[in-house]
Amino acid sequence: MKIIIINGPNLNLLGKRETDIYGDMPFEEYFDILKNKFDWFDLEYYQSNIEGELIDKIQEVGFSYDGIILNAAAFTHTSVGLRDAIAAIETPVVEVHISNTSNREEFRHNSFITPVARGVIMGFGLQSYELAVQSFIK
Ligand code: DQA
Repeated sequence: MKIIIINGPNLNLLGKRETDIYGDMPFEEYFDILKNKFDWFDLEYYQSNIEGELIDKIQEVGFSYDGIILNAAAFTHTSVGLRDAIAAIETPVVEVHISNTSNREEFRHNSFITPVARGVIMGFGLQSYELAVQSFIK
């Protein structure tokens, strides 16, 4: 089972960015824990701050991988391009957020990703990613 976690803009700063909201663990550290926990999965990780690079990655993996776990971060609320990329591919996408975007500022309430995602997991801190991996267990 080949699954990729794709993180969008500013998530490379996890561990030092707004730690009251996003916690103090760098994603690379959390990803190692995740890989150990689900060692029978083939788990990959990709991060970019650039919208076009995220679209390129979704297109690249979207016809061969078994799952995409996507935290599009700020692009969640702005990007028709990411939404269209997800609609174009075959691999199911699970949308993830560390925080519960519904109880934050109003501009975070809309997601362009949700209508084309298999499901959404948000508000559980980094554990949201683990719950998303679990959703691929048959
Ligand atoms: C986020 C929520 C977004 O609104 C925000 O822009 C992020 C992170 C989350 O994981 O909680 O960068 O996607």
